[in-house]
Amino acid sequence: MKNADFLTGITTSGTPHLGNYVGAIRPAVETSKDPDLTSYYFLADYHSLIKNHDPKKRKQSALEIAAAWIALGLDYENCVFYRQSDIPEIPELTWILTCLTAKGLMNRAHAYKAAVQDNEENSRKDPDKGITMGLFSYPVLMAADILMFNARKVPVGKDQVQHLEMTRDIAARFNHLYKKLFILPEVVVDETAAVLSGLDGRKMSKSYNNFIPLFDTEKRLRKMIMKIQTNSLGPDEPKDPGTCTLFSIYKAFATEQEADAMADRYRSGIAWGIMKQELFEYINEILKEPRGRYEELVKNPGDIEAILMKGAVKAREFSAPFLDKIKKSIGIQSLS
Ligand code: TRP
Repeated sequence: MKNADFLTGITTSGTPHLGNYVGAIRPAVETSKDPDLTSYYFLADYHSLIKNHDPKKRKQSALEIAAAWIALGLDYENCVFYRQSDIPEIPELTWILTCLTAKGLMNRAHAYKAAVQDNEENSRKDPDKGITMGLFSYPVLMAADILMFNARKVPVGKDQVQHLEMTRDIAARFNHLYKKLFILPEVVVDETAAVLSGLDGRKMSKSYNNFIPLFDTEKRLRKMIMKIQTNSLGPDEPKDPGTCTLFSIYKAFATEQEADAMADRYRSGIAWGIMKQELFEYINEILKEPRGRYEELVKNPGDIEAILMKGAVKAREFSAPFLDKIKKSIGIQSLS
């Protein structure tokens, strides 16, 4: 196996939603098919330990996220599709990197700072209350995911940009201290991903619980779309597509021409009921076929497992010899 031209992971907490699709899954599916690119896509199940303490949910989420990726057309033969926890080299590298990561660098991580701020605002005596070492050193595990495969480009949401900066810092530190083994990865931010809004108009996210699941039944998808908040403008009044959740979702799925045409209809007045119905039909048409495949896959977890096992073998063709090289360069090696 070659090192990664593209690499990204999805944390296995929760059920895959429309935001995951436009942000991570759809672009990954595209690059996964390119015979000239080596792309690595994985289920970040060790990352999920940080937020979720329910084993059943973790397992179910891994199954659903893997099934979603495959059902939406990930070319798992051409790319490398695996589960983080099947690659023992990743936690090994995590420790090596942990020992050269400045604690001060981790103190500045947004997720950690937000947790501390929350404690302070709620006048808790210990500003670190409820914060585990997992949350604190999360960026080091993410750096290991990326550096283990010497990834050149890492497509992520805006909220992950800082983690990529930290990864570059950590890689540069290793290169300087020991041997120049790591490529400094570049972040690739998908702008549409950043703006897909959820039911309440805020960013669609598991943490806000405002998401629309990708593969609910047709009936429930329709019901969810009908629930999206709109303003109280009457059916014929001109409307602003730029501030409308329905439009932002439509735009993330439609072609540019279709989105332009819809924006015109907004300006000349479109009833919310009609827009909602059209949005539902548009998304449903795209999801119909994959939904069928998804339902089949979820019923046959053994098939998914077999795909992931093959992916792990491919991934380790790179990670095992590379970790050996890393270990030699730091003097963890055979004595003879
Ligand atoms: N932290 C990422 C997220 O929550 C998921 C992730 C874990 C990841 N490891 C990664 C993304 C490595 C890109 C590369 O979205």
